[in-house]
Amino acid sequence: MKSRVHINEVAPRDGFQIEKQYIQTADKIALINQLSATGVAKIEATSFTSPKAIPNLADAAEVMTGIHRAKDVDYIALIPNLKGVERALACQTDELNFVMSASDSHGRANLRMTTEESLAQFPAMVATAAQSSARLNASISTAFGCPFEGQIAPERVLEIVARIEQLGIAGVTLCDTTGMANPSQVAHLCEQVLARYPNLALTLHPHDTRGMGLANALAAWQVGVVHFDAALGGLGGCPFAPGASGNICTEDLVHMFQAMGVNTGVNLDTLVAASLTLPQLIGHDTAGQIAKAGPSSRLYPLPQAIA
Ligand code: COA
Ligand code: ZN
Repeated sequence: MKSRVHINEVAPRDGFQIEKQYIQTADKIALINQLSATGVAKIEATSFTSPKAIPNLADAAEVMTGIHRAKDVDYIALIPNLKGVERALACQTDELNFVMSASDSHGRANLRMTTEESLAQFPAMVATAAQSSARLNASISTAFGCPFEGQIAPERVLEIVARIEQLGIAGVTLCDTTGMANPSQVAHLCEQVLARYPNLALTLHPHDTRGMGLANALAAWQVGVVHFDAALGGLGGCPFAPGASGNICTEDLVHMFQAMGVNTGVNLDTLVAASLTLPQLIGHDTAGQIAKAGPSSRLYPLPQAIA
């Protein structure tokens, strides 16, 4: 099985939301424009959230209207509520990614809403979005575990997925917000979602907090998941989830799939070039491996002594 995979690049949103240093709007736009030429299918460019909650993305409207729109790339924004929908539609956002949490505790810490309170907002958000051509997706945070509550029952997540599907939302993303998932768990839950909801586009959003990110992505792919969220340089993390750290690193994910002969549509060289600009932009090194090590095809000359 060598299914083509589709990459959603989330560094401009998940990545920048947690950075301490404010990233200038022009720099965000330049990075997104550079990412648009790498072959990624989608770019989550920003979030239309409260600027008090996420100060680094307070310029969402300027970013969404300032970027160059490549015709084969969808530009997404994360949205917590109706106000976010209205702001995103005013900026011609291609896809609205509604966010909610599978755990009440994380939902309240992150969005000041329980799971039910978030779901209760969705019908009005869907109705407003229906007046536009924007596509819809819903992301379920802490779907594999919550830093406050521990394990989340798979039945609870499946029930949320059912509610999302009933609202006519076209896709769902299972988010491992603080890297609590393991590959068996990911395979099991993804298999069930794919089997029960074959018409729903399923995306996995792994974080590498505990070093299981790529293994989780691979486990999901092996059961048929073909959409992945990943962040350039492995940036990322939810500021309201204690212990959160970066997403799986896009260039490392692309490298893994390419090495396995799986088409990602992405040019690894241009992706690595973009990743190498990050330390300058954010003021620190990144967690990505391939930008440092080079691809597995990189060879070195033999040491002089044995040449
Ligand atoms: N965009 C911009 N401003 C928004 C907004 C949105 N989508 N939603 C609410 N606001 C503003 C309100 O206008 C109000 O502003 P004011 O204080 O100037 O009057 C203020 O935020 C509070 O509004 P309220 O509806 O009471 O929101 P809240 O304080 O209960 O916060 C959220 C709820 C969802 C807006 C906020 O928690 C949030 O944006 N969270 C996002 C977290 C996130 O992105 N985490 C990382 C991704 S997982
Ligand atoms: Zn995330």
